Amino acid sequence: MPHQGWVDGFGRRIDYLRISVTDRCDLRCSYCMPEHFRDYEEPAHWLRFDEIERILRIFASRGLGKVRLTGGEPLLRGGIADLAARIKRLPGMADLSISTNGTQLLKRAQALKDAGVDRLNVSLDTLDRERFASLVRRDVLKQVVLGLEKAAALGFGKIKINMVWLPETSAAELDAMIDFCRAHGFILRLIETMPMGGTGRAAGHASLQPTIAALRERYGLIDGVVAGGGPARYLVSPSGDFSIGFITPLSQHFCETCNRVRLTVDGVLHLCLGQEDQLDLRALLRGGASDEEVIAAIDAALLRKPHRHEFGEKPMKLVRPMSKTGG
Ligand code: 5AD
Ligand code: SF4
Repeated sequence: MPHQGWVDGFGRRIDYLRISVTDRCDLRCSYCMPEHFRDYEEPAHWLRFDEIERILRIFASRGLGKVRLTGGEPLLRGGIADLAARIKRLPGMADLSISTNGTQLLKRAQALKDAGVDRLNVSLDTLDRERFASLVRRDVLKQVVLGLEKAAALGFGKIKINMVWLPETSAAELDAMIDFCRAHGFILRLIETMPMGGTGRAAGHASLQPTIAALRERYGLIDGVVAGGGPARYLVSPSGDFSIGFITPLSQHFCETCNRVRLTVDGVLHLCLGQEDQLDLRALLRGGASDEEVIAAIDAALLRKPHRHEFGEKPMKLVRPMSKTGG
């Protein structure tokens, strides 16, 4: 059997699938979910674990070996550690990671470790308790930090901290976060806010470029590479003991090296985070399609994968908030 991988219409290899296992979340980050959001997907439409496994088996049959579980908040999906263990048992699943807001880590990190989860990304925008509480609309900073420390103690290596860069983020907050990540051995990544949904747009946007220049100067950082670093550009200290990544979808987009597609909890394959182009895999699966038919539909969909997002040119384009597709 030929094992040519998945390739899109621009010749980009697609070897990474991000799966949003729930669109629910226990936080309400102001740039992501409206405070009184209720428009959740119906449970009858959620992909079941056997459906997720089938889709992954199909993707893996052509060499996709990198999967991230995301949300909403993925640790809220019942049985998430069982799902992780099932995914890790699939042939060729080299890298399974989870993006989480950390609130459930104290409880669930052990089960995730036992299930074979390789890596964790944890969202944390500030270490200032009051600002955190007003940003995520819950007073849970302590819980998140304890969860992070628990995960580190269990031996999750290379934990990444995702810090969304907002116009009001202060230099002092960034310094505190750098010290915290250095002390714990976490890899810090700063992320420019994307205009996803009304919430993402209302958060405003600040370019990371001035901060990148300032950090380079201040800490003597140089360009570096971090394994599995994705679209982030990294600066590292000359001794290699510290690195910081920058995800700059607006000030410097990285779509030409995009290697991923995204599956939402309702079984829709989204071809680009910043566009509406999609393929309804749930309809195919529940309509009785064979594996060959699903493969043909994915191949055809990949030819429609957009060249790039248009967050800068068309910020009004996306109505779905980040909680729907996952970051
Ligand atoms: N822009 C950038 N990042 C966002 N996230 C959620 N909404 C946005 C947005 N509008 C981030 C979260 C988390 C990741 C899943 O996506 O903070 O780190
Ligand atoms: Fe929840 Fe993540 Fe959205 Fe915050 S950014 S509301 S933690 S899904």
